[in-house]
This record gives sequence, structure tokens and C-alpha cells, in this order.
Amino acid sequence: MKLWGGRFRNDENKLMESFNSSLAIDKRLVYEDIAGSLSHVKMLVESKIVTGAEGKKMIEGLNSILADIENNNLFIDGEYEDIHSFVEVNLIERIGETGKKLHTARSRNDQVAVDMRLYAKKKSSEVMEAIELLQNRLKKKADENPVIMPGYTHLQRAQVVTFKHHLLAYYQMMDRDKRRIQNAMSIMDENPLGCGALAGTTHHINREITAKVLGFEKPVDNFLDGVSDRDYLLELMSCFSIVMMHLSRLSEELILWSSQEFQFVEIDDAYSTGSSIMPQKRNPDSAELIRGKTGRVYGSLLSLLTTMKGLPLAYNKDMQEDKEPFFDSLDTTLSCLVIMSEIIATLKVNKENMENAVKAGFLNATDLADYLVKKGVPFRDAHGVVGSIVIYCEDHEKGIEDLTLEELKSLCTVIDEDIYEYINYQKSLNRGIKSKLVE
Ligand code: ARG
Repeated sequence: MKLWGGRFRNDENKLMESFNSSLAIDKRLVYEDIAGSLSHVKMLVESKIVTGAEGKKMIEGLNSILADIENNNLFIDGEYEDIHSFVEVNLIERIGETGKKLHTARSRNDQVAVDMRLYAKKKSSEVMEAIELLQNRLKKKADENPVIMPGYTHLQRAQVVTFKHHLLAYYQMMDRDKRRIQNAMSIMDENPLGCGALAGTTHHINREITAKVLGFEKPVDNFLDGVSDRDYLLELMSCFSIVMMHLSRLSEELILWSSQEFQFVEIDDAYSTGSSIMPQKRNPDSAELIRGKTGRVYGSLLSLLTTMKGLPLAYNKDMQEDKEPFFDSLDTTLSCLVIMSEIIATLKVNKENMENAVKAGFLNATDLADYLVKKGVPFRDAHGVVGSIVIYCEDHEKGIEDLTLEELKSLCTVIDEDIYEYINYQKSLNRGIKSKLVE
């Protein structure tokens, strides 16, 4: 079942045959492969390279293959080299001699390139939708929880923020992720079909027709580049890696926040697991897996970058190795986005523990310094004064807000009764640009 036996005197080694076959991996391109072939037949008819009757026969044959696959009457397996061979051989078996005209003015090199672009385009839209779902869930959880929590730098309590503002930071990351994918999609929106093996074809084909039917902006400008370009996969895998980096950071926070030490959130039972030995354990496996799978997605990107780096123009069989990393990167990113959306939707927020952590952290120290500045103290001096007030509080095991006015005045004479208003955590959120934290 080969497409190229003619110039060979001897049979291919069996081991080599299975080593060479990509069918198990590229079978998922079947819809794109048939769509590409349907557009190619239409173009061959319009360019008068095959007759209308031949075209009709091929289109009916291709559609019957599609229908049989969808109805589970035809299974994509067997000793075919790849999905392109599978479809072509099946077409010839179904419609006979006319089927042998399908591959006129086409090579598997431009065929696989068009299949992958179509598939990558379709799946990128799915990733964008999954990102949007996560954004909606983040926004909803954020709006429901405008509660105060410690904001951290160096993982040390720094200043008061809100859980809402913290979650919305991830919303922004996801927004950039969508724009990056959109950009990659617009760059890759060119039709490689018609490049042939590498040098076009002597037939008078019309690449605008296939571009239009397949929904591409335009045909590629350069044939050698058209068949050997895998930038669009690398670019999407870079976008997916950045998406995963964001999901991994969020996972890390959920893992920390759900620990006994923090107890800020609770990941729902549905997305946690237990330990086989320690009966009390409730582990955040879902978030840990997302964090772990991030490494896998980075690895896929590195794998294809490395595959491509030394390849001369144009097509080389090495490029068949683009599929596993791309598909894995795509599938992993999609499933992680879906799981993260579920984790967020079902997340329980422990308002009291967040508030208590705010109180225990001198998180109004910067507000106190700002207060002193308003009373005429230069900021650098105010910083020093507040530092000594914090030491006093530590020595007396008190929060700044627990000090009496006498104590405060003894530490800094410019402090007045209005200080309490100023260092109140909730009220400080309405002051200045900080009010954005509760918007
Ligand atoms: N299975 C091949 C791939 O994925 C299709 C192109 C084969 N072209 C060739 N000249 N052998 O790259």
C-alpha cells in the first residue's frame, strides 16, 4: 500500500516500514487532509487539469471516505505510511483509475504542510476558547471575593491587597496569551498548497482557489519556504509554553494557599486526592499536575526547535517529528486550561484566614509612612521612624493599629488621632490609586 514503489527493485524492510510510518500519530489530521484534497480537486477542475466528471467522482469518493470514518465503518489503521497515503489508497480502491489523478500537481510535502496549518488554526481557536472560559471563571471568583489578603514580595508579607485583585492578575496574563495566539494565527494564515515538493509545478494551477476554499488569507510567496516552514508550530508552542507558565504559577499559589501553613483556600474534593498511607492527607494533585505538565510543554517546544535547527531547505523527513511534540503540547495545554477552570470555579475561599494573615504582618507599615509624609516628614525619614515603630510592636507583641495614641506619640510626635483611620486595612484600600484593588 505504497504511493511510490515504481523506482524500487526490492521491498522495503518490514522494520523500516513501521519505523517510517506516522499513521498512528497523524491520523488525527484526516479531516484536514480530506478538506485539503477536496479543495485541490475543485482547483484541478477549474484549472481544467481534470474533467468535471473526474472531479465529481473524486469528490464523491472523498466524501464517502469521510462519511465512513464518521460512522465508524472505516478505521484508520493498517500498513499505510501516513494519513495522506491512507486517504489516497482508499480513494483509488473506491473509485478506481480516476482516484489516481488526485495527486496531480501536488506533493505530500505541500499536503502535510496544508494539513498541519489547517489543524493548528482550528485547534488554536479551541485554545482561545478554553482561555476565555478560565478568564470568566477567574473574573467570577474575583468578583465574589473582594476580601483583603496579604500581598507578597519574596514570599514575605508586604502590603494588603485583595483576593480579587490577585486573581485578576491572572486574568490579564490570559488576555496577553490570547493576543499572542491571535497574532501567531494571523502570521500563519497563508496557503502552502501548490508549492509541490519544493519547486511548484509545471501545471497551470491556481493557488488562490485552494486558499479561498480553505479559508487562508493568501498563498505563500516562496515555495521552498512554504514546504519547510514550521515556524507557526514553534510560535504556537511558544504561546502554549507561556500559557502553561501562567497556569503553573497559579497552581503553585493554589498549592501554597491550600497548605496547612496558609489555609487561604480549599481545592474542592473533586480536584484533590488522598494518600494511600496517611489517612488525614488531602493533596492538591490537580494543581501539581498542571505545574508538572508545564515542563512537558516546554520540552516539546525545545524538541522541535532542536529538530529544525540544522535542516537544509526544503523538506526533510526529520520534519515528520513535528507532530508528536505539537500534538502533545496542544493536548496538554487544552486539558490543563479546562482543569484549572474547574479548580477555580469550585475553589472555596477562606476569608477569615486571609484577614488574620493581613493583621499579623504589619501590612499597614507603608500606609503609616505615607501618613507621616502627609504630615510633612520626608519619606526616607518616615521609613526609618516606621521601622522603629515595628521593632517596638514586635517587642510588645502588638500590631501597629493596637498601639495607644500615647505610645505612638512617644515614638513620633507628629502622629495624631487620625492615624487609626489611616492605617485601617479596609479603609486604606479606598485611598489614592489603591482603590483599584477593590474596583
Ligand atoms: N508523513 C510525512 C510528514 O509528516 C508526510 C510528508 C512526506 N513527504 C515525503 N517526501 N516523504 O512529514
